[in-house]
Amino acid sequence: MAAALNSNLDETFYRGADSFFSSYSETGLTFDDVTLATLYSDILPSQTQLDSRLADSLQLNIPVVSADMDTVTESRLAIAMALNGGLGLIHYNMPEKDQLWHISRVKYHVQGLIQDPIKVSPNQSIGDVLQLIEEKNFGFSTFPVVDESDRLVGLLSGHVVKPRYASKMVSQALTPRNQVHTVTRKELGNDPIAIADKFFTEHVGIHKLLVVDDEDRLHGLITMSDVEKITQERKAQFKPARDSQFRLICGAAVSATRNAFGELDSERILNHVGALIERGVDVVAVSTAHGHSKGVGDTVKVLHDAFPKLPIIAGNVTSASGVEYLADCGANIIKIGQGPGSICTTRIVAGVGIPQMTALYVCSKAAEKNKVSILADGGITKSGDIVKALTMAQGVICGGMFAGCTEAPGEVVEIGGKPYKQYRGMGSLSAMNAGSAARYGHDKKDTTRKVAAEGVEALKEACGPVDRVLASLIGGIQSGMGYLGAENLEQLREKARYIRVSPAGQREASPHDVVELKTRS
Ligand code: XMP
Repeated sequence: MAAALNSNLDETFYRGADSFFSSYSETGLTFDDVTLATLYSDILPSQTQLDSRLADSLQLNIPVVSADMDTVTESRLAIAMALNGGLGLIHYNMPEKDQLWHISRVKYHVQGLIQDPIKVSPNQSIGDVLQLIEEKNFGFSTFPVVDESDRLVGLLSGHVVKPRYASKMVSQALTPRNQVHTVTRKELGNDPIAIADKFFTEHVGIHKLLVVDDEDRLHGLITMSDVEKITQERKAQFKPARDSQFRLICGAAVSATRNAFGELDSERILNHVGALIERGVDVVAVSTAHGHSKGVGDTVKVLHDAFPKLPIIAGNVTSASGVEYLADCGANIIKIGQGPGSICTTRIVAGVGIPQMTALYVCSKAAEKNKVSILADGGITKSGDIVKALTMAQGVICGGMFAGCTEAPGEVVEIGGKPYKQYRGMGSLSAMNAGSAARYGHDKKDTTRKVAAEGVEALKEACGPVDRVLASLIGGIQSGMGYLGAENLEQLREKARYIRVSPAGQREASPHDVVELKTRS
């Protein structure tokens, strides 16, 4: 009897998403407007799982994505994000060839068993090999050498790939087949890393092991440093996010480019995305301010038809019909957020946009129906916001949280003795001049029209490496899940109960009536 009364009381005050958000259908709510109720828990924060599947072939080990902004995500930050289990979206305010270069840097960062290693032919010159390294931005210089039928001829070791030997042929410089250490595919069995680990321990000074079949055709390359990194990773709670070939995952933003006649430039978009796929990109994001629009829908359709296996992120939208439209066009993951970002002025300039928690609720219903994932994009300033967002979304996108990190593009500037890094909206005038005008529906070459910026240029306090920022965000997410008794993100979405917070309640939520002391971590 008493238990039933308590449960009725809880249900009256702390309501599930459908009942809570429907009762505020006339008010746009954002993160600070609501708080989550605690629930019975037998889960410790350290036991919670944060993996999130965004699409069939795209799984993150933490549900955090860094924004495709030119002061946030290039290869350095994308590598750090993936190493921590998340995803970086490389921005598109740069020539296409530079974006390809950044993707290569992430994809060739650390590998395990390289199933399709880059190989060279005995008839190439060392100069050709040096050029290949330069063009593709490889971070390694040792290559297996194979004949026309892929049979192993030898190994070209990094210490001979030097400009001084440029005119020599690979055949003159290679370590011959009979001195190269190999293992057959059969011998590797189900756990190639364990077999390779044992091999490297037993063969002092050998750092590369080649995998061949019974006909001596090359099928893989294992390096000792990668095996060591992977063995260490296996012990970590949050493993790096990797593709099926053990490469770090990486995404790239693409623009809904138009040709001189104002039509969608499908050919250019397809060529660009084709090249990104060739470099190993795991997901592309069609990023614009208004995703519920013909240009974005057509771009998604063109990409989905040409590359049906490629996961596509598209946005941004804040309505159920926007989610449905992009899902129908072929998007797998939809970005939710119009105007919540820390550098955004869309709501002030254009008078449009929906506070983030309401937008997430409405969009999550359509996403569920259309079997797509959603990402809460913008406005996140603390880990508690992420916990609230994850009660409805499969992941979050953060810009400002990472813009001050060591790995973000740009130099540190010192102002009044404090270190800062630049952070600007992609709709700020300077970013649009650098290439992002199309994202806001403008043409930067058209000087006849007046253009209103929808973002500001700003500074973020430098905050050290991404590892440190993510460690505190992940700690906060796990803590929130512990309070709700949620072992994983699916349970968090099922269990969440909400209540509206008054202005006095918001004040109560932050430290108050004290002088706060900051201890350096
Ligand atoms: P946070 O709050 O993480 O937001 O800094 C990052 C997100 O903001 C969006 N974005 C913009 N929105 N004008 C806007 O209205 C802009 O200039 C702008 N630049 C970025 C974007 O969705 C990003 O992920």
